[in-house]
Amino acid sequence: MTIIRIASGVGLVLGLASVQASAQALEGDAERGQQAAGVCVACHQADGMGMDNPNGESWPRLAGLPAAYIAKQLHDIKAGRRESATMMPFANMLDDQQIADVSAYYAEMAPWPALPTAYQPADPEDAAEWLANRGDWAEDAMIPACNQCHGPNGQGVGAVFPPLAGQHAGYLQAQLEAWRDGARHNDPNRLMAGIAERLDEAQITMIADYYATLPATLAVPDAPSSEEDAP
Ligand code: HEC
Ligand code: HEC
Repeated sequence: MTIIRIASGVGLVLGLASVQASAQALEGDAERGQQAAGVCVACHQADGMGMDNPNGESWPRLAGLPAAYIAKQLHDIKAGRRESATMMPFANMLDDQQIADVSAYYAEMAPWPALPTAYQPADPEDAAEWLANRGDWAEDAMIPACNQCHGPNGQGVGAVFPPLAGQHAGYLQAQLEAWRDGARHNDPNRLMAGIAERLDEAQITMIADYYATLPATLAVPDAPSSEEDAP
């Protein structure tokens, strides 16, 4: 039952997202956003890359996330649909225009191509890669492939499905736990909550580590020059 909802959920989510996007469609100004983001630097850093804090709360990378996704999160935190004692006061400081502005500012920043820890070469039996690309269809699991929504190599799709690649492991893990525990309940149709509830601890750690070590941007092969192509 749940699976049918998830499988057909994508189209529905896209529909929902466009409704939300139009409700929040304020034009953002990256230059004004830089001013408003002065206080954010303490945690999200001047380059928008945040920081993984193995012994505490990790600060997510914001650089290069879609503006509409960033704006949605800030509205969700303000409204309590996403509970974070750390972020709430900072989200509350921003009015709707400032949210649009800081979102434009961070969306324009280039993420680091990759986080310092390099992922080991893919092995066909790699359990994390399997979960990311095929899901886990064991009887009690029924977990769809993450990349079905988050895109090839977890690069993200549009403004609704955020990139997971190149995001800090501690942060990814905290979000999966937040959905499972009910602290984050801002996902359309409970798409992520339903999945997080079915992941076990080991899978959560494994998949968070996996995505953190994937490059934030896929290398695009150089277009062959016409001279090289010439017979
Ligand atoms: C004291 C540290 C701190 C400061 C300052 C701070 N943040 Fe955050 N931010 C966090 C933490 C921690 C999270 C993760 C919250 C959670 O677990 O849900 C977060 C999450 C976010 C997210 C969600 C990212 C995602 O991938 O979903 C956005 C967007 C964000 N912050 C924007 C801002 C902006 C804009 C400012 C400044 C106005 C700011 N933050 C200031 C700590 C901070
Ligand atoms: C059916 C679609 C779907 C599938 C499958 C899916 N996700 Fe998601 N995921 C979403 C959506 C939608 C969001 C954004 C929710 C929001 O608006 O806050 C999201 C957000 C996330 C985030 C938060 C990112 C951030 O920046 O805060 C994490 C972590 C995540 N997903 C992990 C996973 C993992 C791991 C899997 C596979 C086990 C997975 N997702 C499978 C739809 C999906």
